[in-house]
Amino acid sequence: MANITVCLLGGTGFVGRSVAADLVERGHTVKVLTRHRERNRDMLVLPTLTMSEGDVNELGFLREQFQDADVVVNLIGILNSSGKNNFQRIHVELAAKVAEAMQQTGVRRLLHMSALHTSKDGPSKYLRSKGEAEEILRQSSLSHDFDLTIFRPSVIFGPLDSFINRFASLLRIAPGFLPLACPQARFQPVYVEDVAACFVRAIGDHDTYGQEYNLCGPKAYTLYELVNFVAELIDVRCRILGLSDWQSRLQAAFMQWVPGKPFTLDNYNSMKIDSTCDSGFPEVFEITPASLEAVVPTYLRKRSRQLDLFRRLARR
Ligand SMILES: NC(=O)c1ccc[n+]([C@@H]2O[C@H](COP(=O)([O-])OP(=O)(O)OC[C@H]3O[C@@H](n4cnc5c(N)ncnc54)[C@H](OP(=O)(O)O)[C@@H]3O)[C@@H](O)[C@H]2O)c1
Repeated sequence: MANITVCLLGGTGFVGRSVAADLVERGHTVKVLTRHRERNRDMLVLPTLTMSEGDVNELGFLREQFQDADVVVNLIGILNSSGKNNFQRIHVELAAKVAEAMQQTGVRRLLHMSALHTSKDGPSKYLRSKGEAEEILRQSSLSHDFDLTIFRPSVIFGPLDSFINRFASLLRIAPGFLPLACPQARFQPVYVEDVAACFVRAIGDHDTYGQEYNLCGPKAYTLYELVNFVAELIDVRCRILGLSDWQSRLQAAFMQWVPGKPFTLDNYNSMKIDSTCDSGFPEVFEITPASLEAVVPTYLRKRSRQLDLFRRLARR
């Protein structure tokens, strides 16, 4: 595929950084839109990457940034709604603005990040708003005549993830036991580099135009199994206490008032649906998805060794 210019929304995030690096490696020009250029300066080492600071919720800003783009990739998403940064604005209204700005600037290709089992009737605001955004984009792709591809991954893992790493942090500070909400919720984690590769391959592959892909790793686990796996890897002896449904709900109701909202009632509601796939990885991408067992030890054990070293040094 010839060198193209990709306007990347959400490019500074966990998934976005992998997508950006992959695009640059393939010789494409990448323009990342961000609210915090200085904070993400490190990304500018990538030779064909530039950054534009601004508010993606402003139609004028999007229009300006899309002028020279061949493709738009929207990875922006939030897990918790708060004030102005709410699901309606960040998922639904932003999707509509992206479609409108594309129409106004003549960009004909959009790759959109959603999530597994999103639906307008989903159990949580997160899943409903993601589902509503998908619906808007499906309609707009027909009326505004652009080629849309939607990706719906299960939970994503990788060195910068906030899922595996969060449980590792919690386990490291747990006082010998960890009360775990929704222990039987099921996930089929998918590796961030596999997700990024799908985005990059889909850009110029006409077979993916108008398609929607669920992305899952090779194996499904309960949350309980995942947390045990992490505890074993980082060599923390901790009793994981699976909470019942009402206890999980209570924990969420309490934790959503803790700064940083580590677990909310909406997160609890999202977990009512298993985040697993019915079929294998989409063949069109010719990817054998990496397993959790193959990848997670490479970053979790390394971090554990670093922490051990810091602890030893601190005692001296
Ligand atoms: N991580 C997962 O396990 C997972 C699973 C399924 C689906 N997804 C979806 O994948 C996408 C990327 O996830 P991620 O884990 O990479 O997220 P992330 O690390 O939290 O990054 C989110 C990105 O969105 C931008 N952003 C966040 N809030 C914003 C706001 N209020 N206004 C404008 N921009 C905002 C941030 O840009 P700046 O701060 O630079 O402006 C950042 O680049 C999301 O749509 C998410 O829902 C993720």
